[in-house]
Amino acid sequence: MSAPLEIVILAAGQGKRMYSDMPKVLHGLAGKPLLGHVLDTAHALKPAAIHVVYGHGGEQVRAAFPQAGVHWVHQAEQKGTGHAVAQAMPKVADPATVLVLYGDVPLIRPQTLQELLATAGSGLALLTAELDDPGAYGRILRDKSGHVIRIVESKDASPEEARVREVNTGFLAAPAAKLRKWLAGLKNHNAQGEYYLTDIISMAVAEQVAIATHAPRDLSEILGVNSKPELAQLERMYQKQQAEKLMQQGVTLRDPARLDVRGELTCGRDVVIDVNVIFEGKVTLGDRVQVGPNNVIRDSRIGSGTVIHPNCVIEQADIGADCRIGPFARLRPEAKLAAQVHVGNFVEVKKSEVGEGSKMNHLSYIGDTTIGSGVNIGAGTITCNYDGANKHRTVIGDNVFVGSNTALVAPVTVGAGATIGAGSVITKEAPPGELTLTRAPQMTKPGWKRPKKKS
Ligand code: UD1
Ligand code: CA
Repeated sequence: MSAPLEIVILAAGQGKRMYSDMPKVLHGLAGKPLLGHVLDTAHALKPAAIHVVYGHGGEQVRAAFPQAGVHWVHQAEQKGTGHAVAQAMPKVADPATVLVLYGDVPLIRPQTLQELLATAGSGLALLTAELDDPGAYGRILRDKSGHVIRIVESKDASPEEARVREVNTGFLAAPAAKLRKWLAGLKNHNAQGEYYLTDIISMAVAEQVAIATHAPRDLSEILGVNSKPELAQLERMYQKQQAEKLMQQGVTLRDPARLDVRGELTCGRDVVIDVNVIFEGKVTLGDRVQVGPNNVIRDSRIGSGTVIHPNCVIEQADIGADCRIGPFARLRPEAKLAAQVHVGNFVEVKKSEVGEGSKMNHLSYIGDTTIGSGVNIGAGTITCNYDGANKHRTVIGDNVFVGSNTALVAPVTVGAGATIGAGSVITKEAPPGELTLTRAPQMTKPGWKRPKKKS
C-alpha cells in the first residue's frame, strides 16, 4: 500500500505588489478566491489531511473558508518557503508523503499532481519546466549524467547557473519523515536570508535519495499571481480553457474570447452562446438552448429549446422548456417558469410560479405570485405584493386575461378564465369566468377649452 498523502499549501505571503488590503490568496479568479481553486484541487486528490500555512491577513483568510476541512497553521513571520513548510510538519504523520502546493498558483491540475506523486514513489519528486526566459525562478542543476543535484535560487545563481532554462516550479512531493529532518537542518545563509525549501534537494542527494522530475502539460499550471496584471492574465487563460472545454463538448460559442464562466456551466447538445455572456455559480442549459449577447445568468436551470434574448439578468431561476426570455428581462430568485412561457422586455419576475404557455411580454412586475397556464398578463401589469411591512401573494388562475396597466393588490385572487379590464386596481377576488374592471366610466365635457397663457 502506498503512503497516505498530506498536502501543505503555502499561503502566508502578503502580496505587496497587489496593492490591496485583502490578502493575496483571497483575490478572485473566475469568481473564486485563488486559495479556493487550490483547495478544490487539493481535495480532488483525496488526501489524508490538508494543512494551510497562512500569515498575512490570517483571520480574513480563515474566515473565507469556514468549511474548508483543513488544518490551519499560522506562520507569524515569513522566513522562507522552508520555514513555512516546517510550521506544518508537527501535524504531519511520519509515514505520509507530503505534497507542497501554493495558495497563489491556482491553475495546477489534479492530474499533473497525481503524475508527480506517481513519479515520486517513496522518494522525492520536483515539478520542473523548461522556460525560454527562466527569470526569477530557481534553477534546476544536474550533474553530467543528468541527475538533479541542487536547486539554486536566481538571486544566488552564478551567471553560468542563471543560464539554465530548467526551473523549479515550487511543487514537490517528499516523504514526511525525511522532509522533517531536512527542514530542521536548513540554514538561511543566502542572498535573501531565508530558509529555502529548495535546499532540501542537496540534502536528499547527500543521502542518496532518488530525485525524480516531472513536467506539467501546460505552462499556465505553474504560473503564480503576484500582481493585478498577472491575475488578469491567469483569468484569461482560465476562461480560454473553459471555452475550449465547452466547444470540445459541442457547444457553439460565437466568440470563445468573450465568454466568462465563473462557476460550473453544464450544457446539453446544440447549445449556442453569443458574445459577452457571464455565467456565475451553477448553471445548467438544456439541449438547443440559445443565449443571446450580454446576458448574466447565475445559479439557474434553463430548459431545452429555450431562447434567452439579449440583455437579461437571470438569478436563481428555474426556466422550463421552449420559453422566450427577454430582451431586457430580469428573473430573480425563485422564479419558476413552466414550458413555453414568454417573459418579455422590462419584465421582472420574483418568487413566482408561472404555468405552461403563459405570457407577460412588456413592462411588468410579478412578485410572490402563482400564475396558471395559458394566462396573458397585459403590458404594465404590476402585482402590488408589499404593503410597506409585509409581502402578500397574488394567485391568478388558468386562462386569465389581465388587461394592460392593471394593479393587482395582494393578497388577491383572480379566478380561472377571468378577464380584467385595462387600467383596473384589483383589491378583491375577481370571480372566475367573468369580466372585472374598476375603471371609471369615460366622459366627455363638450366645449371644454385648454387654459391659455396670460399675456
Ligand atoms: C520559490 C522557490 C523557487 C521557485 C519559485 C516558483 C524557494 C526558496 N524558491 O521562489 O525555486 O522557482 O518559488 O514560483 O522555495 N511563502 C510562505 N511563507 C514564507 C515564504 C513564502 O507562505 O515564509 C509562500 C508565498 O506566499 C508564496 C510561496 O510561498 O506563495 C513562494 O514564496 P516566494 O517567496 O514567492 O518564493 P520565490 O522567491 O518565488
Ligand atoms: Ca514567488
